[in-house]
Parts: sequence; structure tokens; C-alpha cells
Amino acid sequence: MTTTAAQQGYGLRDRSCLVTGAASGIGRATASLLARQGARVVAADRDAAGLAGLVQTLDAEGLALTRVEGDVTRAEDVRRMVDAAVRAFGRLDVAVANAGILPLSGLEETSPEDWDAVMAVDGRGMFLTCKYAIAAMQAQERPGGSVVCVSSISGMAGQARQAAYGPAKFVATGLTKHLAVEWAARGVRVNAVAPGTIRTERVLRLDDEPGGPEYLREVTGAHPMARLGEPEEVAHAIAFLASDAASFITGAVLPVDGGYLAQ
Ligand code: NAI
Repeated sequence: MTTTAAQQGYGLRDRSCLVTGAASGIGRATASLLARQGARVVAADRDAAGLAGLVQTLDAEGLALTRVEGDVTRAEDVRRMVDAAVRAFGRLDVAVANAGILPLSGLEETSPEDWDAVMAVDGRGMFLTCKYAIAAMQAQERPGGSVVCVSSISGMAGQARQAAYGPAKFVATGLTKHLAVEWAARGVRVNAVAPGTIRTERVLRLDDEPGGPEYLREVTGAHPMARLGEPEEVAHAIAFLASDAASFITGAVLPVDGGYLAQ
């Protein structure tokens, strides 16, 4: 990513934005990009130390953001994240439903409890974020806004060892399409990105998991560009979809995957 591209504006200056899962990886890159574009950002995560690190990094650049510690599986926490944006900035323009957990697990080793744990964050958490963000967007003066869900190539096509995670990401894709249709006439756009494998903290930890290094090698090779994506490359696609530059785009799931889904 060149500096010029990174500094390009998406017209998000002063927009009030909520990013969940902002302490790490794609969420952190997105919160940082939005803040650098002049947006007013609430960064939410259950990882307080990670959020503190993000605040410190941006502070060194003279940028401020509001942080909220909370768990997206809990309705009251998600309401608190949304309320923080409305309280701090007077409204909510953009919500990025990004928080997720990414287990690598085939059907035989996935327990019923594992299924529930993934669905709680990647399914229910994404639903709650859309629900309370859109409620705030609808209730405000000049109603409307833009939601971007973070789906995955695993939410668009089948892969091995994604027995619970893959179906959970289909929830993100499904929410995007259904809510886009339901809310289009009321000025709320709902889109998604479908990242390929991205070099986030989570993916780097695969190196220490059984079968992880082999999986990483295989999956990297399965991307036509033959490399992992960078969190910033996903953040730019999210910023575009969130912005007025995408004003006639809703219900879209934009692959950010080095050509993976084109095969
Ligand atoms: P990550 O693990 O680096 O970051 C995820 C963040 O979400 C962490 O800061 C974590 O604390 C937070 N989080 C997890 N559960 C939470 C909860 N219940 N409440 C609040 N915060 C919570 O992961 P990464 O890779 O940045 O993933 C972010 C999103 O991107 C996820 O939705 C994931 O499914 C999606 N994605 C990631 C890909 C990748 O290759 N890294 C590929 C495709 C999609």
C-alpha cells in the first residue's frame, strides 16, 4: 500500500463511526484508517489492553478516539458501544461489525460447545451490532447510515476445517443481504467485505497450532496472488463501502481476497 493510497480521502471527515473488534487485526487497521481520515471513531473490543495500545498509537499521531470495552455477544454491551458514539458525536453514521473469533476446526473435532461459542460472537454478535447500530441510525435527526459487516471467503464458499467458523461467516453474508433489502428505502446501506486470508494477529498465531503452518501454506497458495492480504487492504475496502462514494451500493459482498473467489 503506497502512502498516497493510504492518505486518500473517502469523505469520512467528522463522520461518527463505530468499529467492533478494534483492538487487533482488521478492526484495528479500520479504526486507524477512519481516524486518519478525520472520522470520529468509537473503538470497541473486549480486549482492554489492545484498545489501550490503539489509543496510544493514534495519540502519538495527534489523533483521538473513544474506546469502549465490551463483549459483542451481550446485548447490553453492544447498546453501550452504540450509545457511546451517539453520546460523544451526536449521531452514528457508520458501523463496522468486525469482531469475530476464527477457530480452525473440522467437523469431527468441533464440539457442540465450539459451535455455540463461534455462533455467539460471529453470528449473534454481528446481529446485535447491526440491530442496535441501525436502530440508532433510524432514530436520529437526518436518519440513515452505513453498515459494513466483515464476512469472509468462508462466508461465500466452502473450505475444509471451517465446520463452525464457515457457517458463522455465512451469517454475516446473509445479514448483509437481508438487512440491505429491508433498510434500503430507509436510507441505511448494508454491505460486507469478504476477506481472503489476512495477515492479522489471529492468523499469525496459526503457526503455533496443530496443522496451522500446513494450513497457512496451503491457503496462501490457494490465493491467485499467492500471498496473504494485509489488514490495511481490507480497511480501505471497508472505508469505501462505508462512505458516500458507495452511495448506490447496498447488499454487496466485496471480495478482498487476491482473486480467491474468482476461481
Ligand atoms: P483478530 O483476532 O486479530 O481480531 C479480532 C478482534 O475481535 C480482537 O481484538 C478480539 O479481541 C475481538 N473480539 C473477539 N471476540 C469479541 C467479542 N465477543 N466482543 C468484542 N470483541 C471481540 O482477528 P482478525 O483476523 O482481525 O478478524 C477480524 C474479522 O475479520 C473477524 O470477523 C474475522 O472473521 C474476519 N476475517 C478475518 C480473516 C483473516 O484471515 N484474518 C479472513 C476473513 C475474515
